[in-house]
Amino acid sequence: MGTILRNGQLLINGELVTKDILIEGNTIEKIADDLETADHKVIDAAGKLVTPGFIDMHVHLREPGFEAKETIATGTASAARGGFTTVACMPNTRPVIDTPETVKQILSKTEAEGSARVLPIGAITVRELGKELTDMAALKEAGVIAVSDDGVGVQTSKMMKDAMKMATELGLPVIAHCEDDSLAEGGCVHEGIFSEKHGLKGIPSEAESIHVGRDILLAEATGAHYHVCHISTVESVRLVREAKQRGARVTAEVCPHHLLLCDEDIPALDANYKMNPPLRSRRDRDALIEGLKDGTIDMIVTDHAPHTTEEKQRGMELAPFGIVGLETAFPLLYTKLVLTGAFTLQEIVERMTKVPADVFNLPWGTLQEGAVADIAVIDLEIEKEVNPEEFASKGHNTPFTGWKLKGWPVLTMLEGQVVWQTDEMNSEGARQ
Ligand code: DOR
Ligand code: ZN
Ligand code: ZN
Repeated sequence: MGTILRNGQLLINGELVTKDILIEGNTIEKIADDLETADHKVIDAAGKLVTPGFIDMHVHLREPGFEAKETIATGTASAARGGFTTVACMPNTRPVIDTPETVKQILSKTEAEGSARVLPIGAITVRELGKELTDMAALKEAGVIAVSDDGVGVQTSKMMKDAMKMATELGLPVIAHCEDDSLAEGGCVHEGIFSEKHGLKGIPSEAESIHVGRDILLAEATGAHYHVCHISTVESVRLVREAKQRGARVTAEVCPHHLLLCDEDIPALDANYKMNPPLRSRRDRDALIEGLKDGTIDMIVTDHAPHTTEEKQRGMELAPFGIVGLETAFPLLYTKLVLTGAFTLQEIVERMTKVPADVFNLPWGTLQEGAVADIAVIDLEIEKEVNPEEFASKGHNTPFTGWKLKGWPVLTMLEGQVVWQTDEMNSEGARQ
């Protein structure tokens, strides 16, 4: 017995087309009109958007070590609620993901408790201290799909060059959090209008773009696949655009918050607007939109970074950097970028599915016969306010509380299994 997802709206060549999908085991068996119900379970998806499960290449799951902020169980439940079926997790845990044992621990925890597929990212340097390369061969063998010291920048050019050489030999992408400490140290917001107004130390744009420029040169010298994390400045976008024009193996990601907010939008000294890189200027934000549009920026990621409420209440200067993102990403992008006409639905969906899959060579992110049945079902009509109390994530740290959004996921299927659905979808299913 399989499952039929009945009458969903599929994006086919940019158009929404009504189709049935037959799922058997973990596979999409058939996509067609009016499939025979036979003895299959039927899920009514009439009027709902049906997309491949989203892929988020930048998530902090916090386990092991920071379970008060998030766990693999709660972080992947949050992913499922957001329509994500695959998340890549950053290594700034305790211990850092710098040994095969920690990789294996994460994978087995995911197997036991996960509601989404987890792809571990290994550290570039031991304990992310920037002093000594990790054993990347052993990490790869254990299952990491890339390396990154996310949370901190790799400070010396020599260390980054050695990392790229090693990663390239092993076929691992290098994912870089670009931040020059000598420029950024002590800053808590973007150096600009907001920092001046409140007398706060700012993080200048060059703290990011200097690393982006340096690393592009190193990637060209070593042949590495270099991927820029959470790109946030106009200069970084220009550097990536030019590198791509030269044919360098450079890719980039951007977060919804950097696309939708700038420092002028921060209403008060509220650490729910504090993340790293910070919300930049309006000009930077416009450059990110343009870069995403023209393909300079490949994909959208959340940088889901849960912290406890107590930590986030310490004020702008003392609170840790980071906001949660998995459960608001698609509704934000749909409401603020698709419904406004800035992007088509297909453009946004592709940057969360097919593009990350292609860039990182992953076998997911498409809806087609024979593909793994990772599926998101989304209600494009119902408008709802963002309410962090409803999040599956332990983190409630979001600047989007109270935003009225459309495009809420209602059912998520991972390898043919429903891993999350709204009560409404559940009772409709039960009626069949
Ligand atoms: O805002 C951020 N939060 N940026 C980072 O680079 C790290 C992350 C975290 O781990 O909280
Ligand atoms: Zn980062
Ligand atoms: Zn991050």
